[in-house]
Amino acid sequence: MDDTREAFSALVATLDYPMVIVTAAADGENAGCLVGFTTQCSIDPPRFLVFLSEKNRTHEVARRADRLAVHFLDDADHALAELFGGETGDNVDKFSRCRWHAVDGAPVLDDAERWFVGRVVDRYERGDHGGHLLEPISVAPAPGPRESEGDLSYQDVREMEPGHEP
Ligand SMILES: Cc1cc2nc3c(=O)[nH]c(=O)nc-3n(C[C@H](O)[C@H](O)[C@H](O)COP(=O)(O)O)c2cc1C
Repeated sequence: MDDTREAFSALVATLDYPMVIVTAAADGENAGCLVGFTTQCSIDPPRFLVFLSEKNRTHEVARRADRLAVHFLDDADHALAELFGGETGDNVDKFSRCRWHAVDGAPVLDDAERWFVGRVVDRYERGDHGGHLLEPISVAPAPGPRESEGDLSYQDVREMEPGHEP
């Protein structure tokens, strides 16, 4: 690694941002993984962008799906994060180890309170992560008072060993 890449890598390792689980279904197969590379990127129209590693099982399924579900995690959601970030769908059926239901053709995790399903309106295929631009079409009911302290964030899980090679 050259000096600039090494310095950039050290810099971004200090950042903090919310972790989500992105799920997809295509041709009868469910997939999903823990994702840090996400952002809202437009207010009107509302748009949200998620980036999936091209090596992940989730990307392979998501590129064939026209809807994705995005789940925002609470700091109490470590076990769910470990299942979706520490295991790969190449080896494990993650959806047999959690509760879920379909919404608009996307698998929504019952244990995540805050989620939306988005229609894929564009894709960005450069670099080693593919971007999926989402238009929200279904949004979780407004949650009641939250029991947890806050969001599960990158610094909470950065020591986790990814289930798939990056
Ligand atoms: C802290 C952390 C951040 C991650 N961020 C992303 C990400 O932004 N995009 C992505 O595709 N995978 C990301 N991953 C990796 C996947 O969640 C992980 O490799 C998962 O096991 C892939 O599962 P799959 O092969 O079933 O898709 C991250 C993992 C960790 C631990």
